[in-house]
Amino acid sequence: MADASDLDAAAVADSQVLGVIVIARNGDRVEYYQDPKTYEGGVTETTALGEVESHQLGSVLRSEYLSPTSPSYIDGMRSDLVDNSEIKVRVKNGGEGTVIFDSAIALLQGLYPPNPKNKIVLANDSVVTAPLGGYQYVPVETVEPSNDRSLESWTDCPAFEKHISEFYASDEFKAKEKDAQPFFNSVKDFVFGRPTTLENAWNLYDYINSELTHNKTYAYRLPPTLVETARGLADFHENGVFSDKQSGGIGNIAGRTMLHTVLKALERVAFNDDPLQFMLVETGYQPFISLFHELEIVKEHPELQAIPDFASAFAIELRRGSPPDVRDFLRFRFKNGTGGGFKTVYVYGRHADIPLTEFIYKAKGGVISSNKQWAQVCGGSSFINSELGFVDQITYAATHQTLYTVAFAFMTFIGLFVLRSVFVRATKATGQKIKNLRAKKVRLEGEEVSWWM
Ligand SMILES: *[C@@H]1O[C@H](CO)[C@@H](O)[C@H](O)[C@H]1NC(C)=O
Ligand SMILES: *[C@@H]1O[C@H](CO)[C@@H](O)[C@H](O)[C@H]1NC(C)=O
Ligand SMILES: *[C@@H]1O[C@H](CO)[C@@H](O)[C@H](O)[C@H]1NC(C)=O
Repeated sequence: MADASDLDAAAVADSQVLGVIVIARNGDRVEYYQDPKTYEGGVTETTALGEVESHQLGSVLRSEYLSPTSPSYIDGMRSDLVDNSEIKVRVKNGGEGTVIFDSAIALLQGLYPPNPKNKIVLANDSVVTAPLGGYQYVPVETVEPSNDRSLESWTDCPAFEKHISEFYASDEFKAKEKDAQPFFNSVKDFVFGRPTTLENAWNLYDYINSELTHNKTYAYRLPPTLVETARGLADFHENGVFSDKQSGGIGNIAGRTMLHTVLKALERVAFNDDPLQFMLVETGYQPFISLFHELEIVKEHPELQAIPDFASAFAIELRRGSPPDVRDFLRFRFKNGTGGGFKTVYVYGRHADIPLTEFIYKAKGGVISSNKQWAQVCGGSSFINSELGFVDQITYAATHQTLYTVAFAFMTFIGLFVLRSVFVRATKATGQKIKNLRAKKVRLEGEEVSWWM
């Protein structure tokens, strides 16, 4: 008799990867200031080092997911020339804007390097190869916080600002600040007038780290342990700001809106008739911390309560279990910067891959899936463009969508997953291939809602 954990162990063994969602952090850049109270960002710029880091991450993802000999190869995904129906790229275009965009491009250059096969034969028989030896142009969608809050939900959000000030007022914060006084005294000479307070910990660390990387004079002068202490305080600070004691809390807002993009992509990858197999979301460090909390990964991996390094990646793999358990499972993997490799992490205190349906069931409580819901959660009233969902969301037939309909459609979406796995089980038994299961339209009592784009 196999109990649930045996089945999961079987799923872990040699499951087939149907698709993957990769959340990537931008590469190195010049100093990036963030207002400690509002998280509005200053200007920054990409560096060549940052491009190299992101390019490297792209190459790693390529060998991990696009190489047929890799155990994580995405079944059937094209690797020589990009098939633009198999990949979708979303880029946060808010704070750190150009840096994140440039990082996405560099990553894609590593994921799909130039290929001389990228050529065309013209009517007059002459052959033209794309520039730079067959450069591959992968379409990239930028997401502007002014009309879509899914990738930058933590700015202009009064409830989040309140959460930040409560963190600053907490006993834990005050005690930490007191302990750090010796550091603040000694760091003064190396931060040139920047306020040496715990509230300013991100800016102190980012400045020190950035100078240490780029400026030899500075690097030669900086006493050896200062950057580590600065990093520890910044980790404490960012972890407190971008987390919440509760799943579904305001502190996890960065992860909660990211979950929308994740669920939406999973929904597409899971359906056989949708060619999408690879989703890249290029963003900052904030949603990493927040997702680690929202998905209860930090319970098992407390060391993840920290800033991920530049060009880190969080990969969510959709895998098909191996018989007798043919459900779909998710495996989560984290790669901290360019140094190490991917490491499997576990969500919701589970020590194995999690069935897709269970994940959706658990994640749905926290997800924020529209601008309107975002505005409600934030308690602000200023959001102009908040009629509907996020821009990427669902082309709803109706222009005026009530929350009730959204909720109802979501339940239908979960229902379809359940239905689908039942169907998969049934068809696997008879060895048939599943076709045409992907519903384009879901009929809801009297109302037609097209859920997939
Ligand atoms: C063929 O057509 C292309 C595009 O119109 C042109 O650039 C090229 O010179 C032509 N080649 C020949 C051999 O006529
Ligand atoms: C490098 O660091 C030194 C010492 O802190 C500083 O005087 C100089 O302005 C810095 N150079 C640049 C290009 O920022
Ligand atoms: C990533 O690695 C750095 C060291 O390079 C470490 O300080 C940090 O805590 C790590 N972050 C996470 C989220 O594991």
